[in-house]
Amino acid sequence: MILLGSILRVLSPAAPQPRSIYDLALISSAIFAVIFFLVTATVFYALMRFRWREGMSDPQQYAGNRKLEITWTAIPCVIVVVLFALTARAMRLADPPPPPAADIIVTGHQWWWEMRYPKSGAVVANEIHVPVGRPMALQVESADVLHEFWVPELGRKITAVPGHPNHIWIEADQAGTYLGFCTEYCGTEHAWMHFLVVAEPDQDFEAWQTAQLQTAMAPERGDNPAAKGAALFQQLSCPACHTIHGTAANARTGPDLTHFASRRQLGAGVVENTPANLRRWLANPQKVKPGVFMPDFKFNDEQLSQLVAYLETLK
Ligand code: CUA
Repeated sequence: MILLGSILRVLSPAAPQPRSIYDLALISSAIFAVIFFLVTATVFYALMRFRWREGMSDPQQYAGNRKLEITWTAIPCVIVVVLFALTARAMRLADPPPPPAADIIVTGHQWWWEMRYPKSGAVVANEIHVPVGRPMALQVESADVLHEFWVPELGRKITAVPGHPNHIWIEADQAGTYLGFCTEYCGTEHAWMHFLVVAEPDQDFEAWQTAQLQTAMAPERGDNPAAKGAALFQQLSCPACHTIHGTAANARTGPDLTHFASRRQLGAGVVENTPANLRRWLANPQKVKPGVFMPDFKFNDEQLSQLVAYLETLK
């Protein structure tokens, strides 16, 4: 289903860059179809017209025909030159040179994506927000192994290489949510390295970015589950991997959780981000996403309720 989905997505480009790739694919497929038809038709014609029949002797033999040889050399040469010109044009349109400073730095991890907006300082996981109609320059990196960043509707693929930043542009013509994948095998949970690109009008994008820059709101003090969850989060080893701005947690091994509850998906797309799914995730992450590096803490029911209550306040 996912494969079929990505094929359909490739067929509906939603920005100028992927559209140039799509147009090239369409034109070259048309040229290939014409060649295929002509060759097949000629072979069938020759089979029927010149087949051996009772009483026939061998046909007359020819050695060399300059006119024919020039023709069948010239035609492929013209086709190759035309395809080369079209490809060079599509490459220029699909892959403009990167600007000196990227708008978003994307880092592939086993098995999730971190997105940093260096100009504002916003940090998210598995969810990029972009303003509609404005090309965004991405710098794509990896924290561990090779990954590959691909949003079929919005741009070409780009490999995330450890120690070697690559560049790509993405842009969306229309507001909407677009699905992205990792398309380089990178270990057990390669299939669950999804992310979303949320394209929204300028105002909404700015509002989202401003909200992401706020430090996490501390839950009301006192005898309530969220406050207990906040304390629990700091007492356990959660801060050894995660960041929550405004608290002592500032590690970068796992996703930044400062605005965790504002995200739509959990575990890089493995489930929707709902309180019930979060509870299942915390109860045993390995059951929801086998192989994930988040350990099973064997929380009891009370601890689960407190942590869920706290994390749900992180809008
Ligand atoms: Cu990351 Cu496949």
